[in-house]
Amino acid sequence: MKKVDSKNLSFNYTQTDMRYVAEYKNGKWDEGRMTDDPYIRMNECACVLQYAQTCFEGLKAYETADGRIVCFRPDLNAERMVSSCKRMNMPEFPKDKFVQAVKDVVKANKDFVPEYSSGGALYVRPFMYGKDPIINVVSANEFEFRIFTLPVGSYFKKALSLCVSDYDRAAPHGTGNIKAGLNYAMSLYPTMEAKKAGFNENLYLDPASRKYVEETGGTNVMFVTNDGKVVTPKSDSILPSITKRSIIQIAREELGIEVEERPVEIKEISNFKECFLCGTAAVISPVRMVTDHGKEITFDTSDNEMGPVTRKLYNTLTGMQKGTVKAPEGWVVEICKA
Ligand code: PLP
Ligand code: COI
Repeated sequence: MKKVDSKNLSFNYTQTDMRYVAEYKNGKWDEGRMTDDPYIRMNECACVLQYAQTCFEGLKAYETADGRIVCFRPDLNAERMVSSCKRMNMPEFPKDKFVQAVKDVVKANKDFVPEYSSGGALYVRPFMYGKDPIINVVSANEFEFRIFTLPVGSYFKKALSLCVSDYDRAAPHGTGNIKAGLNYAMSLYPTMEAKKAGFNENLYLDPASRKYVEETGGTNVMFVTNDGKVVTPKSDSILPSITKRSIIQIAREELGIEVEERPVEIKEISNFKECFLCGTAAVISPVRMVTDHGKEITFDTSDNEMGPVTRKLYNTLTGMQKGTVKAPEGWVVEICKA
């Protein structure tokens, strides 16, 4: 029996039944276990609380039309978490154990996976943090890796209005290309300012020259040219989105759409026809307007209909994720029956 109201989904924290926890002590991970306790007790001087030694991942589990529960490319989340851990001086969590733990947590919360027809999913949030008390600025010695889940609906509800930010979300040679909590902490002030001003999100520029488009606080960005080519920024300080990498492959190999990954100047975006954000939470979310210091740049979309190339990519990607379109080998991982 479902424990989720599939007709009233939001993107807010909801407590589900079970979560996974593994502890790292004396140079090794323990066996890991499931727990029903959503609370964490730690010392006031835990490294994560003082120096933000933490990173996370995000993926989704879906109910398919034929009654299975699946997730999408969890191996890539496991891999990206390894990169994040290396950069944050945290121990790697083994990739095979990561994927198994994702499957175990989803299975234990399968009644919270929204119905196929709802368009929702079970969001899966793996994370790791430094746990022991540290006051001098060095790495923790003890860590916890956890995974919790929550049922979610759309992250964005309608076509988006973005604001080109005067703040940076990343530094040159910093941590923009990993999923460190600190990247999100530094985006909170500019995000709240943008929302107060009536925008949905900030569009950040490259922190070195402020000439090129990077991404938003929680998504990569993609554009479509007048002749139907997809263009997306290439930069060392943006997160290598799994959704974007999948879209690029779908465009090139399934839909025969040309894709350019290259530096994109902010001053050229008025030449593009369509613009959309992509990510696990955002899926593919069309952008209606980007405001660059008073200059309004609009794109081919409305609240009811995305641009035609965006729509084609959306239908193919979500069809693969939910089992109605054949996906490349290994992308869709079956967990259990619904
Ligand atoms: N960029 C940022 C800053 C993000 O937080 C996310 C979300 O995970 C993405 C891009 C999209 O990445 P993915 O498609 O792997 O979810
Ligand atoms: C995700 O899409 O998984 C993220 O981590 C982004 C966040 C805005 C929820």
